[in-house]
Amino acid sequence: MKIVTIVGARPQFIKAAPVSRALRERHQEILVHTGQHYDDNMSGVFFRELGIPEPEVHLGAGGGSHGAQTAAMLTGIEGVLQRERPDRVLVYGDTNSTLAGALAAAKLHVPVAHVEAGLRSFNRRMPEEINRVVTDHLSDLLFCPSEISQRHLAAEGIVSGVHVVGDVMADALLNAARRADASQILIQHQLSPRSYVLATVHRADNTDDGVRLAAILQAFADIGRTILFPVHPRTRKAIAAAGLSVPSNVRPCEPLGYLDLVRALRDADLVLTDSGGLQKEAYWLSVPCITLRDETEWVETVETGWNRIVGADRAAIVAAAADGRRPGDHPALYGGDGQATGKLVGLIQG
Ligand code: UD1
Repeated sequence: MKIVTIVGARPQFIKAAPVSRALRERHQEILVHTGQHYDDNMSGVFFRELGIPEPEVHLGAGGGSHGAQTAAMLTGIEGVLQRERPDRVLVYGDTNSTLAGALAAAKLHVPVAHVEAGLRSFNRRMPEEINRVVTDHLSDLLFCPSEISQRHLAAEGIVSGVHVVGDVMADALLNAARRADASQILIQHQLSPRSYVLATVHRADNTDDGVRLAAILQAFADIGRTILFPVHPRTRKAIAAAGLSVPSNVRPCEPLGYLDLVRALRDADLVLTDSGGLQKEAYWLSVPCITLRDETEWVETVETGWNRIVGADRAAIVAAAADGRRPGDHPALYGGDGQATGKLVGLIQG
């Protein structure tokens, strides 16, 4: 089988790592990097650390507005599909790269498989929500991480080709966790395990709204603990544009590679984030999470008590961070046993 895989943003590199490895044992894969993320610490480091094959095609379609970026990807991917005539296109998650891959393929009648299907925040102001809804409706093979995501698809009339396989991100994490001991990140920042909080912020809702961004940074100051803060490029730009500054208890650093991130998360006492991936990774590593959004797609992590949704409300963030209780139970979520990749690849083979 000839498969074109579309990746472009950080979380997609992580998810593609175990899947590409398994696919290439039996099939021809053509890996297309849209170029949505292009800095070495947002892209190259993941390919090196996770052993992802060098992409066969680089589209260089990063930056610009949503429309301009998605249009450049669509044009580039269409050209690849016309040239390669694959049996299937594989897309991951909910980024503009996902949408472009699914749309280009569907228009050329190439079947689309969507990894991480059925996630919903029910907030159409999020670009990711639009991307994932459209992608699910264009896909004929839909891989859900949980029963709840399968139910969301059913509610929209999508019932065929839907499979609950768990989350391939768990497979990538299990693999990386074994190697994260070698990371020097704690030494570099003079941190000892459990003595610090890890924080990340990059959602457009938080970065592009000066009031929300200021409230989050104020809450970081009020928490008063050492906070390791890897800063996404859009957040760095937003902090500067809003004339804000990072509080003195916060240690900003460049975006982390995957092994450093896994190590920094595993040894953190708490994580504050608006990332989707980190909410799950925190759960799998049994680190309590506070989510700086008004809702989450990963509702199971909230139901188990390991994740609390506080939005950009300064007082709520501080109160949640001060409450150091840990839930007693830690049921398996989203697979988490390293089996998702095998199930998914088996289903693609048919
Ligand atoms: C994208 C995804 C988001 C995902 C995130 C992971 C969409 C709509 N959003 O958001 O779902 O959680 O990736 O990080 O696809 N930039 C750089 N260097 C880079 C990458 C980006 O400077 O390597 C800059 C861009 O020029 C832009 C900003 O960061 O100004 C945002 O990048 P973009 O790829 O548009 O969206 P993300 O915020 O990364």
